[in-house]
Amino acid sequence: MAHSIAPLETLAEWQSFCQQAKLAEVNPKRLRLFPAASLTIDLSGQRYSTALQDAANQLLQARNLHQWQQQLLGGEPVNTTENRAAWHTMLRAPAPIAEVVKERERMNAFIRHADATRRWRHIVHIGIGGSDWGVRLTVNAFGYTKLWRNVRFVANIDGHAIASGTADLNPHDTLIVIASKSFSTAETLLNAQRAIEWLQSAGVSDPYSQIVAITANTEAAQAFGVPNTQIFKLWDWVGGRFSVWSAVSLTTALAVNSDVIAGMHAGAAAMDQHFEEAPWENNAPIQMALAGLINRSIFGYGSLNIAPYDARLSDLVPYLQQLEMESLGKSVDLEGNPVTVPTGPAVWGMPGTDAQHTFFQWLHQGSDGAPVDFIVCQGADHDWLEHHQCLLANCLAQREAMLVGKNYEQALNECLRQGHDPDTAAWLAKHRVHQGGRPNTLIVLPRLSPYTLGALLALYEHKIAVQARIWGINPFDQWGVEYGKNLATGIINEFKNPAQDSHQRHTPDASTQHWIETFKRVGKGA
Ligand code: F6P
Repeated sequence: MAHSIAPLETLAEWQSFCQQAKLAEVNPKRLRLFPAASLTIDLSGQRYSTALQDAANQLLQARNLHQWQQQLLGGEPVNTTENRAAWHTMLRAPAPIAEVVKERERMNAFIRHADATRRWRHIVHIGIGGSDWGVRLTVNAFGYTKLWRNVRFVANIDGHAIASGTADLNPHDTLIVIASKSFSTAETLLNAQRAIEWLQSAGVSDPYSQIVAITANTEAAQAFGVPNTQIFKLWDWVGGRFSVWSAVSLTTALAVNSDVIAGMHAGAAAMDQHFEEAPWENNAPIQMALAGLINRSIFGYGSLNIAPYDARLSDLVPYLQQLEMESLGKSVDLEGNPVTVPTGPAVWGMPGTDAQHTFFQWLHQGSDGAPVDFIVCQGADHDWLEHHQCLLANCLAQREAMLVGKNYEQALNECLRQGHDPDTAAWLAKHRVHQGGRPNTLIVLPRLSPYTLGALLALYEHKIAVQARIWGINPFDQWGVEYGKNLATGIINEFKNPAQDSHQRHTPDASTQHWIETFKRVGKGA
């Protein structure tokens, strides 16, 4: 796979795109809806003009998007720094390759047997990052119904996580799920060790019979003691943050049901088809990608806010944080040259309406603000109509305030109507102006179902991939997380060998050195 790519700023098509973006406006009177895989993506709140779309088409052409899409969806090694494919779409394809079918059948057989024997009242899911967020998201999105199994999630290496993750459970009816693509993540292995000891200390005669592993490193799982029949395969062409489509979701299938997995696959596959077939002008992921590029690289917004107006989707925010920021948090292109425009934004957020009482003041009247992706379900899965009407109204109202704003004259009249004297009204009105024209996207799901959630996650995956292609960066590696891990290993060794002369630590970093010396005394009555 060639990793040659022209620096973005050298492309005339990029310069033209930037010019047109600066001339385009957010026009509240214009409706721009993009139906895709049962979702409706409303980009009316983003900058647009026909000239901008023309410039975008030229830019996408200059980046060989069609060809790159085929390589991505065809399982070619688009992850050039690891020489791997990024073939998560194959996991949800209507006709997967044989090894995917085989592992899925093995997983389903395990689930059927567990259900038939009513085993595993409790599940302790041990994993972190992509081996955790997707499962939390799906269990919490769909598990609010009566579950006869309950799930505890253990990700953090902090001992409190495994302690609370196993507290008060019946060890004899608990399944430990170790989810780790590498089977070398320190947090996961240490927590898994504690879980084994917890089973043993409770008198479980064969603790490894109560362990399953989902990994690409089957040898390491075998060495850990997991029986072969309880190891479910991942592949190296599935990135950790894209693994929710794999057997990593075994916990969801056990805790909710296997239909959730099948439904998510179907929705994601429908979005994959839309992404592959829809013309660029009607292509929801591509249009979202363009809007994100404009907001980030041309108008300089440093972050993207995710506002899911659904209490069941609180885990969507960290899920998308990892998906977006571990993919787009790069600043050199495929050739290793610095990218000279801002790349991936910080992603943050919280479900609405909670977010309105937390940081929407900043979004409305802060000096910077941030583009907002509002996500809402048209239909509710509860019977309280008034609640849902209020939820929908708040979502639309917040969007409108960001889109349309409130000018000084409107604010002044408002203050006068409220009885303020003219001088006070003239002063107070200045504090009530809303700039407006703050970009936002609205994504409407008919209702929250495995299908619509699958389509939503695939929508973001493809949006991110297109943005990376235009920036010229690799969205599928994550070298930035390795350095910190290596430094931590060295510090842990210093803690474990306090007598070891720390001159081996060649660092000008006085602070770290001070705290290593201080923390060495932890546990020694310090
Ligand atoms: O954060 C780095 C990372 O490698 C993620 O990409 C991954 O999801 C997580 O750590 C866990 O990795 P593993 O599944 O190999 O334990």
